[in-house]
Order: sequence, then structure tokens, then C-alpha cells
Amino acid sequence: MHKLLSLAAMVLAVGVLGMPMGQASEPMHFYARPANGLALTPPMGWNSWNHFGCHVNATLIEREARAMVSSGMKAAGYRYVIIDDCWQGTRGPHGNIHPDPKRFPKGMKALADYVHSLGLKFGIYSDAGAETCQGRPGGRGHEYQDALTYARWGVDYLKYDWCNTGGERPRTAYATMADALHAAGRPVVFSLCDWGVRKPWRWGAAAGGNLWRTTPDIWDAWRGHHGFALGMLNILDRQVGLAPYAGPGHWNDPDMLEIGNGGMSEAQYQAQFSLWALLAAPLIAGNDLAHMDAQTRAILTNREVIAVDQDRLGIEGRPVYRHGAAEIWVRPLTGGREAVVLLNRGAEPLSIRLTWAELGLPEYLPLRLRDLWRHRDLPVATRAVRFDVAPTSVIMLTETPVRPGRSE
Ligand code: GLA
Repeated sequence: MHKLLSLAAMVLAVGVLGMPMGQASEPMHFYARPANGLALTPPMGWNSWNHFGCHVNATLIEREARAMVSSGMKAAGYRYVIIDDCWQGTRGPHGNIHPDPKRFPKGMKALADYVHSLGLKFGIYSDAGAETCQGRPGGRGHEYQDALTYARWGVDYLKYDWCNTGGERPRTAYATMADALHAAGRPVVFSLCDWGVRKPWRWGAAAGGNLWRTTPDIWDAWRGHHGFALGMLNILDRQVGLAPYAGPGHWNDPDMLEIGNGGMSEAQYQAQFSLWALLAAPLIAGNDLAHMDAQTRAILTNREVIAVDQDRLGIEGRPVYRHGAAEIWVRPLTGGREAVVLLNRGAEPLSIRLTWAELGLPEYLPLRLRDLWRHRDLPVATRAVRFDVAPTSVIMLTETPVRPGRSE
């Protein structure tokens, strides 16, 4: 009886720990996949979904790739040109996936070659289920075959979605695709997209992922939601507590940038860019690069903010202060520096006092603060500095301890 009880307790425990309600259980035996050595800083690129949805074709992708170069985005560090859903046609008689022949008449290898010829990298999208979210053929049961096809085409980045998955187990399904990519022999950045439903930050790196979505899709708005999709602040709020899971080669992904898509103000888009950099998030632009205005380009190519995102330590920032609409987020950087975002979530102007205690530093320490949007050093200060932050906007800073001069 006692044995029976403890068996029942064990089954329950496994049920609770390994199989949250309504999900398939993961096998007991699972081994962590070795890191693929890629994405040592968060990936930077462009993805077709946020602006173009299903309207993708080779001419569009070539145009956007060219614009990534001519706009200065490549020079600022953007590399991956990623086609999201709807590129797929059908599978051939032997199960090989083919792109939609009308949209991609020369095939995917020709398009990848073109993207590579610009010094950029080529990414595509598939899905762990039988069909993608838009009903195109998914990868289930074709993982090794698809990985070989992608390697033949020259794919450098794969976003792998979770629609139409039925009974699959996320950790094993994603690990299977990671194994297939590894076996195909071409280095591929692997992006998991289960919308954060099964807490992929806990197992995404072990399943071979370089990044994993932490939330449902982003909606191009300051806050609120639109069906399944969440406004920018709603996404931000869901990143709290996830920082320990990120690091070089494996990143939390709060979804793509909306900068330039029209739903937010310039200040609000600066806020998204600042906060995503603070979070060490992948910087994947989602606008029409070929037709962006000067403001959008200036935000996306702000090198001081990008340098925060790409900081080699790879430590994700976190909130250190919240009061009403005011928040302060801090991220440690190389060289004993820190990045700081002062966020005003509300519709009224706010005065926010940044104290050295929030930075984890003694108040006597002289700090040099630099404003990363105004590109300006502020006077050396001790103890605290007060900032006026406009409605629904941020001020982004770095702090550097002032070192004694050599001549002293
Ligand atoms: C899901 C993903 C999106 C996008 C679409 C494509 O919703 O979360 O980012 O890839 O599918 O259908």
C-alpha cells in the first residue's frame, strides 16, 4: 500500500513537473544538445512577417536585402534576411519541400546566393507541426530531409514555429530539428517559436535553440492587445524574471521590432529599440526597409544603442525600480559600465530620479552618464541625477565610473 502510494505520488509529481495540464509529457531521458557556437551576441536582421505577412516573393526579398545594405543597416550590424511564413509550395513525390514556384520562380538557392552576394545571411521559416500557421507544409516527420534541403539552399537561420503540432512534445520536437540541422552540417542559427507557452527559457538552449520567443506575437502599439497579439509594454512586462536564462548563444526573444510600421510614435519606437537592447533581445527589424523614412533609419541604426544590445558579456537587463508609470531598467556591460533605461509608461510627463543605489553602486562614486539618443555626455555626477521623461518614452543612458587620471 505504502509502495503504491509513493508510486502514485511519483506519477503525480512527474505529471505536475513535466507535463503541465493539457500538454504531452516529455520523455524521461533527454540530454542537452551541445551549443552550436552561433549567435554569441543577439542575432540582428530583418524578417518579412510584421510588415508583409504572407505577401512574400523573391523580388521583394531581393529588394529588402539591397535596402539593408543601402540604408546603412548592414554597416550597423544587421545580417540576417529572413523569409517568414508562406514561401512554401508543396512537397514533391519523395517528400522534398519546394518553394511556391510562382513567388520564387528561380528557387531558393538562387535567392540565397543573391542574399549572400550582398554579404548578408539567409533565413527561412518552418514549423514543428504538420502545417505552418498559414497552412503551408510543416516540418513534422521531414526534419532530416528539410535540414538537408536547407543546407543545399544555403540557409543560415531557421525560425521554427509551433502551429498545428497536436501531440508533439516541444523539447524533443525542437531538439530533433536541432539534431537534423547539426547532421546536415551547415551552421544554422535556430530560433524557437512556441510563443513562450511551454516556458522555453527553461529548456530552449538544451534543445539546441539559439533564441526562443517568450510571448505571443507583438502588436504595433504601445500597450494593449489585439486578439492573440500583445502591445509593446505588455510584451516587456512578460520579460521580468527571464534574464537569468539568457547568455551568449542562447537568448530570450520578445519578438520582432515594429519600428517604422506606423502604429507608434517616434518616441515610442525609440523606447522599443532601447528596451530591446537593454534586454539583449534579437534585433530583427520588421518594417519595409526599402521605403523607410529618415527617423526610422536613425532609430534602427543608432550605433550606441546597438552596442548595448551586442555587448559581449551577454547579460540581460532587468527592472530595478518601479513606481506608478516610472520604471528604471539596468543592464551590466563590459568594462564595469552599465546601460540604463528610464521609462515613462504613462501619458503625463514624469520626473525620474536615478540613484546610484539603483545602479548597485556607492553614492560617492563619480559617474559619467551618456545620453544614447542625444549622443551627449552629461556632467560627471555622484549620488543621483534627476531626469524629465516625456510621456510614453524613454531616456537611455550608459554609466561609466570615472577613473583617476594617470598623471595623478
Ligand atoms: C506565428 C508566429 C509569427 C509568424 C506567424 C506566421 O504567429 O508567432 O511570428 O511567424 O506565425 O504565420
